[in-house]
Amino acid sequence: MNATPRPLGESAVSVGPLGLGCWPLAGMTRAGVTHEAAVATVRAALDAGVTHLDTAYCYGERGESERAIGAALGLTSGTAGNGGRRRDAVVLAGKCGIHWEPDAALSPPRRQVVDGRPERIRAEVEESLRRLGTDRFDLLYLHAPDPAVPIEESAGELQRLMAAGKARAIGLSNASVANLERFAAACPLAACQMQFNMLQREIEADVLPWCMRHGVAVVAYWPLMKGLLAGKMRRGQEFPADDSRRKYPIFAGAEFARNLDFVDALRPVATRLGCTLTALVLAWTAEQPGITSVLFGATSPEQVAENAAALACELDDAARESIRIAIAARGPVAGRRAV
Ligand SMILES: NC(=O)c1ccc[n+]([C@@H]2O[C@H](COP(=O)([O-])OP(=O)(O)OC[C@H]3O[C@@H](n4cnc5c(N)ncnc54)[C@H](OP(=O)(O)O)[C@@H]3O)[C@@H](O)[C@H]2O)c1
Repeated sequence: MNATPRPLGESAVSVGPLGLGCWPLAGMTRAGVTHEAAVATVRAALDAGVTHLDTAYCYGERGESERAIGAALGLTSGTAGNGGRRRDAVVLAGKCGIHWEPDAALSPPRRQVVDGRPERIRAEVEESLRRLGTDRFDLLYLHAPDPAVPIEESAGELQRLMAAGKARAIGLSNASVANLERFAAACPLAACQMQFNMLQREIEADVLPWCMRHGVAVVAYWPLMKGLLAGKMRRGQEFPADDSRRKYPIFAGAEFARNLDFVDALRPVATRLGCTLTALVLAWTAEQPGITSVLFGATSPEQVAENAAALACELDDAARESIRIAIAARGPVAGRRAV
């Protein structure tokens, strides 16, 4: 894989082709991820040369993901030193505009609330920076457009935060082209973060070409389809009650079986290239036209090491053709829709 840093739009910030997605560290994909494991996972990413760290205000009900990053970088009190040096060595990406509220009717008893009002954005960013132990984000996204707030108002607040030195570049996530156009007219837009993987490629129809035309970086999330494309899931696997993957159709019944067939079709390609399945999947994702950086989630140093090996994975034309045939045989899988 070409590991040369890639610029985020017109901003002064560049990122490597791989980033650590820090959502699973909050214990919300599956429960049982300890603070110690989360810290070790972030440190393993840095050791492997993965310095783009992606988190959000709502990754954890109490900011567990941001707190783990602050601790791993030695930025928060009670954590090992060298914080300043480590801070400068990473690209810290955060998101604001989504939070959790208690809801006893749900299991787990919480619901996600999209709130893009300027005062809410401002308060979340202050709290996130405190949890992380830093004074600025390198990249700050609006996590999703709030249908109840004109997007120009949210974008305007992000621009003010950038002018105040709280962010070096601004991004928008989970957006349609109409959202992107309105946002970019109100605030310089460096990056757009969207769902993208081998089987969920809706953005190729509109968002990706728009970003390429307008010089906006595209950061891909869910490259491993929440672990499915890591190739460790078994046929008939039951997810525990506190594993959020239970709710997704891609992990249920015939759909799950077809997705596992797809994974099996990729295995010989990885074997021939001498790399793991995750390395193959991430290397393919990072080389797709218009994709700037690929965020893989992980919950242990071992997973990070396996995934970061994608940096050394070189695809050839025969591999690309086998992957194309496997994708065509499986067909597209419905993904998340932009707000
Ligand atoms: N902007 C948005 O709205 C948005 C939405 C979703 C995600 N994101 C970002 O994108 C990142 C990536 O998405 P994601 O973390 O949800 O999904 P993902 O990267 O597709 O999958 C991550 C999961 O895959 C499993 N995994 C990873 N490496 C593995 C390996 N080598 N072997 C076996 N299993 C492995 C882990 O499962 P276990 O937990 O079972 O270990 C992990 O939780 C997030 O962390 C977040 O930063 C953004």
